[in-house]
Amino acid sequence: MSNVLRIAIVDPNDASRENLKSVLLGLETVWLEAECSRYAFFVDVVEQTKPDIGFIAMDSDPQRAVKLIHETLQKAPHCSILVSSSSTDGRLILESMRAGAKEFLTQPLKAEDLSSALQRVSRQRTGGTAGAARGCKIIALTGATGGVGTTSLAVNLGCALAADESNSVVLLDLDLCLGDADVFLDTIPEYTLSDVAQNINRLDLTLLKRSLTKHDTGLYLLPRPVQLEDARLITTEELTRVLGLLKASFTHVIIDTSKGFTPIDMHALAEADDVILVTQLDLPCLRNVVRLLSSFKESKSFDEKVKIIVNRVGYETGQISLRKAQETIGRDIFWQVPNDYRVMVEVRNNGVPLLQQAPKAAITQSINQLAAALSGKAESLPAEAATKRRGLLGIWPAKSAK
Ligand SMILES: Nc1ncnc2c1ncn2[C@@H]1O[C@H](COP(=O)(O)OP(=O)(O)OP(=O)(O)O)[C@@H](O)[C@H]1O
Ligand SMILES: [Mg+2]
Repeated sequence: MSNVLRIAIVDPNDASRENLKSVLLGLETVWLEAECSRYAFFVDVVEQTKPDIGFIAMDSDPQRAVKLIHETLQKAPHCSILVSSSSTDGRLILESMRAGAKEFLTQPLKAEDLSSALQRVSRQRTGGTAGAARGCKIIALTGATGGVGTTSLAVNLGCALAADESNSVVLLDLDLCLGDADVFLDTIPEYTLSDVAQNINRLDLTLLKRSLTKHDTGLYLLPRPVQLEDARLITTEELTRVLGLLKASFTHVIIDTSKGFTPIDMHALAEADDVILVTQLDLPCLRNVVRLLSSFKESKSFDEKVKIIVNRVGYETGQISLRKAQETIGRDIFWQVPNDYRVMVEVRNNGVPLLQQAPKAAITQSINQLAAALSGKAESLPAEAATKRRGLLGIWPAKSAK
């Protein structure tokens, strides 16, 4: 999980400002919140965008820049100021530090220097515990075949996570051609992933949030493109940038991938912290789980983050048993979600998530507990209690694979 710092920069020199921007774009831990070409406008920009870091390039007018450090900190005392100059004049360095700058970097800027300065500032901001600031967790869901309930789980998991007020959650519909997350949430979004991807270089976090659709549950949605042709235009580079922006703004990004395992899907799975592989207890699904796990194994990091969820447990009497499924797959099942045809039909037809449609249903409770387990908040149940619970709900959390 990364702790993204939002940065606003000011540099009246176009060439060095462009250079700074390209160095910043290469850093994963920082999001360029705003850029400014005039010292006179910078304080207003900082007041409006409230970045974590203000970067002042001093070369155009060093004395004016020193005053600007003062002025910025007066209006935005929580903003950490970094400055850069091609001069190594000790007096200028001293004046900048006395005015409140946290770091003095020499031009031309090197990515390593900027990155270490940002790490130091990040540590200071989090009281010396790097990583203490809230990061973002990306949870990508995919299915062992079509129709196993991937979107149902993605949408309802997103709503369950959003119910915790300390979370901010966005659902990205990456089933680019046939995605239907918007239908599950009964929304007609104004903007889609292709609008965001096309305007990614002009978007800041405020604009991004305006481009997303917010559901009553608090869950934000970034839907798939409307036109099929637009779906094909989205590149992995654009996806990286969109995810960077979402990571800077949310505590959880849920991704509903397609079942095509396209380069875009694989890119999303690679970026994710958790990869949820949804299956049902039938032979074609389980065979695909085995095939998928074997190709995921090629990358160690990938293999470690895959979690298997069995959906629609209890659907048919002829279902393969969980024990047999575990044996076939060769690893533990992370979670089981019960079958509830009646509730799920209502949820789908009404476009209302489980939390609102059937808050007390066993399937809703199961997904709430899944959300807690993925957030590391699930209480581990003693074996006896787990058995009792199974008797009540027909479901229990499976032993975690890790
Ligand atoms: N636990 C469940 N109990 C009963 N029905 C379910 C359950 N989970 C999903 N369903 C139903 O299964 C159907 C398929 O679900 P969903 O659209 O979420 O699957 P999907 O894997 O996203 O499909 P696709 O491959 O088309 O994207 C829906 O009608 C949904 O209501
Ligand atoms: Mg789907």
